Amino acid sequence: MRPSENFLSEAVRLREEKNSRRSLRIPEGIDFYSNDYLGFARSQAIIGSYQTKIQGLSQLGATGSRLLGGQHSLHQALEERISRLFRSEAALLLSSGYLANLGLIQCLGMDHTLIMDELCHNSMRNGAKLSGSKTLFFRHNDLEHLEKRLRDNPGSLILVESVYSMDGDLSPLTDIVALARTYQAEVVVDEAHAIGVLGPEGKGLVVQENLEAEILARVVTFGKAFGAEGAAILGSSRLKKFLVNFCQSFIYTTGVSLPNLLMLESAFEHFSASPHELKALQANVRYFSQEIGRDLASPIFSWSTPGNAAARAQAVELQAQGFAAYPVLAPTVKQGSERIRLVLHAFNTREEIQTLAQIMRQHA
Ligand SMILES: Cc1ncc(COP(=O)(O)O)c(C=O)c1O
Repeated sequence: MRPSENFLSEAVRLREEKNSRRSLRIPEGIDFYSNDYLGFARSQAIIGSYQTKIQGLSQLGATGSRLLGGQHSLHQALEERISRLFRSEAALLLSSGYLANLGLIQCLGMDHTLIMDELCHNSMRNGAKLSGSKTLFFRHNDLEHLEKRLRDNPGSLILVESVYSMDGDLSPLTDIVALARTYQAEVVVDEAHAIGVLGPEGKGLVVQENLEAEILARVVTFGKAFGAEGAAILGSSRLKKFLVNFCQSFIYTTGVSLPNLLMLESAFEHFSASPHELKALQANVRYFSQEIGRDLASPIFSWSTPGNAAARAQAVELQAQGFAAYPVLAPTVKQGSERIRLVLHAFNTREEIQTLAQIMRQHA
């Protein structure tokens, strides 16, 4: 027996005991689970454009860190495109949203106390841990609690998401920015579930609320509504220069590969040229809201099914009816907050949405 075998199997056995063992499965059924909000991951128009573009490639991998020979004119061009698209002075590409949050918060934390919404994503929490800086949490979307934290720690860095990934609710961003101004604080916003989703242009909450100039850094991720992968940190040119020097998840890793850059280019071109998917997504959110009698702020809906066993059973029942949806179990969420995370898309049909709402009503 290998020395680590006991530890490996015991850790998984404990998960099993708590009904929370994770495993990999290929999804089957009508998609009410994925983050492919606009359907871009399977868009034939985008795939076609990408296929044309890669014909011209004479290089695949970036071949190294962008600081050590891995920089290509396509990185530069795409970062300029991203800056224009999301109205920021500068953009820095990273391989994923996880790495963007990790590296951004690790290096900004060097000079700040961090004050984070308690529901911020695991990547932001781990970025805070890596920074080694003092980290405080405020109750989810609770402005009074945030103000108390700021009063005790002026000049801190506030970390929030614009659309919270589990419940789909929005951050009161304009109010948070006002508090930041009062207490000389800075704000970092993770827009992972907001870009391609919110506002008439789908450019996220910061653009929708005209806060570009007020926010120190935005993280936009491309594995969700843009159907690809990768992420960018948006902010000033000064911020970008700082990140190129201090953001470890940018410095110590191979640059984004060229086919990936072209995939992103195709997705951005399609996004800029075609408003149809965004309109269809927003219409479906309104339709589902009517059907379930709740006003959803985003395409994410959390169907509360407390207990890991109950959440699993509900997901199995949905799957039996042809719907693919996943339970979110403790410890990913707090015990008692287990749920089915439902996600609406541009491509879901009215009939599918109606049937789903009907199943939910039967269990109300
Ligand atoms: C809020 C939030 N931020 C960041 C990430 C990480 O993004 P990526 O999947 O690009 O690593 C996720 C992914 O689930 C997320 O939900």
